[in-house]
Amino acid sequence: MKFGRLPQGFGGNIWTLVAAAFCLSALALMGAEKDKKKVEWDAAKLPPASDKKGLTYEKDIKPLLEKSCVKCHSGEKPKSKYRMDSLAAVIKGGESGDAAIVPGNSAKSPMVAYVSELVEDMEMPPTESAISTLR
Ligand code: HEC
Repeated sequence: MKFGRLPQGFGGNIWTLVAAAFCLSALALMGAEKDKKKVEWDAAKLPPASDKKGLTYEKDIKPLLEKSCVKCHSGEKPKSKYRMDSLAAVIKGGESGDAAIVPGNSAKSPMVAYVSELVEDMEMPPTESAISTLR
């Protein structure tokens, strides 16, 4: 039997299609993974860091968190399972699974991006519209 009559290039096309389908599903997977985990922001838009010396968690940071954050991020059911009752817990973050603070790197710290309102729908404390959505 001769194979001369098989449509030329057909086999090649099928494999191109299969390869393309694989690439697409890989992209889709990467996309889903990205939606799930990776939060990104433009660190260039962060406000300048404070140049105050001798800041400490107990003296300077904790009172700020207590004033603006702890009402949602403490108690029986802290929002996003993020409880701010110790420095270690503040750094660790909540159910997102990402550390809220990257020690020594505020530009990479999600909390800093959230309080600077650089991540849509993650502004902390939540903006009025976000709060009404929560209710
Ligand atoms: C009105 C309630 C409320 C207040 C006040 C609030 N948050 Fe939140 N916070 C939330 C909610 C709700 C989420 C989950 C949002 C989501 O995942 O869509 C959250 C999530 C977070 C997360 C992500 C935690 C994780 O890893 O899952 C961080 C970090 C955070 N808040 C920081 C802060 C900081 C810092 C403040 C104070 C400046 C603050 N929040 C004040 C409600 C609040």
